[in-house]
Amino acid sequence: MSELIVALDVSSTAEVEEAVERLGDAVSFYKIGLELFSAAGPDVVRAVKARGKKVFLDLKLHDIPRTVERAVLSGADLGVDLMTIHASGGRAMIKAAADAAAQCGERAPKILAVTVLTSLDQSDLDDLGVSREPAAHVEALGRLACENGADGIVCSPMEVARMRSVLGEDALLCTPGVRPQGADVGDQKRVATPAQAVKDGSTHLVVGRPIMQAADPQAAARAIVAEMGAVEG
Ligand code: C5P
Repeated sequence: MSELIVALDVSSTAEVEEAVERLGDAVSFYKIGLELFSAAGPDVVRAVKARGKKVFLDLKLHDIPRTVERAVLSGADLGVDLMTIHASGGRAMIKAAADAAAQCGERAPKILAVTVLTSLDQSDLDDLGVSREPAAHVEALGRLACENGADGIVCSPMEVARMRSVLGEDALLCTPGVRPQGADVGDQKRVATPAQAVKDGSTHLVVGRPIMQAADPQAAARAIVAEMGAVEG
């Protein structure tokens, strides 16, 4: 079953607590990103976990293997359920993250790899000495990540069907850029509806503003979960 993850794009623990209270049992999984974690620290993770929710800690780790290993262990100590690393950190770094998670037994966070940031285009890749096209680079990095122990990748809804066939049925595929029909697209350029993302093979749908800024956030979340469930039957 695919899961809805609500992006907590706010800047304080107080705002997080308010949002989690307000969403109640309509949402059981939240994403904490670099901005919030830098502002509020590990206590914000503890605050969400204390309310019985799952946490996706999206820090996109990219460092030497030992440092990433230690950061994954710290995440596991906080009770984090999903964490991100950059696949471009290389084989040893990916493996260090996966091995660290594996040491944690039942508490093991799942490791997702980021392939190519959606903010990068061909000319940025050229600057970085990457001559293959972005789509080919995404595929190669996705394979590298999963071959070295990552549980899956983060990808756009436009890539998810292709990456499902490249990475096989067990890979976790986490997609932001999800918009219910008729919702404000905001700054997202390549969006899909929740139903389409699930049909294409997404296992985790990250949704922020369409829920957090809705007049009735609980109703917005429940509608998305219902749409996802209708596809899965
Ligand atoms: O508000 P919205 O639904 O667009 O939020 C999507 C979330 O997913 C944000 O936290 C954003 O930073 C994140 N994200 C994204 N696109 C990516 C990677 C992450 O929108 N390529």
